[in-house]
Amino acid sequence: MPSVFIKTYGCQMNERDSEAVAAQLVAKGYTLARSEGAADVVLLNTCSVRDFAEQKAINKMRNVAGTARSEKRTQILGFMGCMAQSRGKELIDRLPDVDLVLGTQKFHRAAEYLDELLAGKRDKIVDVEAEAKSEAAIREHLVNGSSKTATSAFVSIMQGCNQHCTFCIVPATRGEERSRTIPDIVAECRELVGRGVKEITLLGQIVTSYAKRDLPILDGKSPFVQLLDAVHEIEGLERIRFTSPHPKGYGDDLAEAYARLPKLCESAHIPLQSGSDRILKLMHRGYTRERFLGIIQKLRQAKPGIGITTDIIVGFPGETEEDFEQTLSLCREIAFDNAYIFKYSERRDTPAADMPDQVPQEIREERNHRLLELVNEIAARKYDAFIGQTVQILVEGPSKKNPARFTGRTRCNRIVLFDGSERHRGQLMDVLIERTGSFTLYGNPAIVNL
Ligand code: 5AD
Repeated sequence: MPSVFIKTYGCQMNERDSEAVAAQLVAKGYTLARSEGAADVVLLNTCSVRDFAEQKAINKMRNVAGTARSEKRTQILGFMGCMAQSRGKELIDRLPDVDLVLGTQKFHRAAEYLDELLAGKRDKIVDVEAEAKSEAAIREHLVNGSSKTATSAFVSIMQGCNQHCTFCIVPATRGEERSRTIPDIVAECRELVGRGVKEITLLGQIVTSYAKRDLPILDGKSPFVQLLDAVHEIEGLERIRFTSPHPKGYGDDLAEAYARLPKLCESAHIPLQSGSDRILKLMHRGYTRERFLGIIQKLRQAKPGIGITTDIIVGFPGETEEDFEQTLSLCREIAFDNAYIFKYSERRDTPAADMPDQVPQEIREERNHRLLELVNEIAARKYDAFIGQTVQILVEGPSKKNPARFTGRTRCNRIVLFDGSERHRGQLMDVLIERTGSFTLYGNPAIVNL
């Protein structure tokens, strides 16, 4: 049977999509190759959020195709996901060795298309059409196929985004918001828990808008909180997380859910994007600095130890030094546990790409650097505060960097390394934090167990 190598760029939704495609192919008898050189099929699951991510995937494909040619190997090459969706056939025009371009609503057809290509029935396939119900079309998981999914799994609850932030290409790559039903999602979660999964992360481009147009508000609870309630009832499930939310989705019902639902981990990734009201408006974010601060305060009241991370864009068109300083001051005030900083990248067909006063690259660089310094300094301080504390971790498996160590996550989503063994895998256990590294805690389970 043919072997396949899948490389994933970008977000957790992409990781989940790759996993589902891999599981689908394994079910059809394909094997998973460890490297692209050893595979009959190479698929790159792509990201379009920034130009850099697109260039990386294009360069990778060029290299893979070049090596296959020089070694006179025939390989089926495919792009899938967001860049496949937004660029379509153009990718084959640019890279004629590519055989397959599979859009974001077509992952469930990967096996069928690859079979046709491998059998020589078709030469090139480009499918980036919209497909009704595609949001619920993939549910296969590779549980036990990799150490990570054995303990923790991603479940996609919705596709698309209607927010139309002016910088963002996602509405074009993932389409309009479409949500799965609560019973459908709960059934998938139940099955995963039945197979040993202890932690589920609910995924979507804007999860707080889940089923907004399909379901009414009940007892003051938004459909998303109703879903959290339903998933929370699954026996054997220990932890629930979700990503990505939108700040406007943090109503009182969601803040209360953190206090009310013990399985909902006290961790939130809430994209801020900017600390300047003027820029937030130009971005079409739909909240102010004040409102964002209010959300953070509300969450910290509900769960004092909550871990809060964010995304920030620097150098959005028209961003002045003063606007940027507003971002710095808000970061100082909130003290995020971590922040992912992005230099603004012009995306085709987005309103911000045509806005006046595009910020020169060197200023984007400089602001990126300054903000990163501040964020890292605050994060390090917050990590150091854990020394001497006992925290609960869910053990995922051996650390990728150093397999002699085992790795787990705290409820606040911090990575902990400790001297563990296979018997710890999938366990919830307490560890004493003895020291910290860069975005890592080092724990000692033995002391706690005495
Ligand atoms: N340029 C830079 N960063 C972007 N992001 C989204 N679009 C762009 C863009 N055009 C960032 C946002 C988002 C994260 C996933 O990527 O911060 O939250």
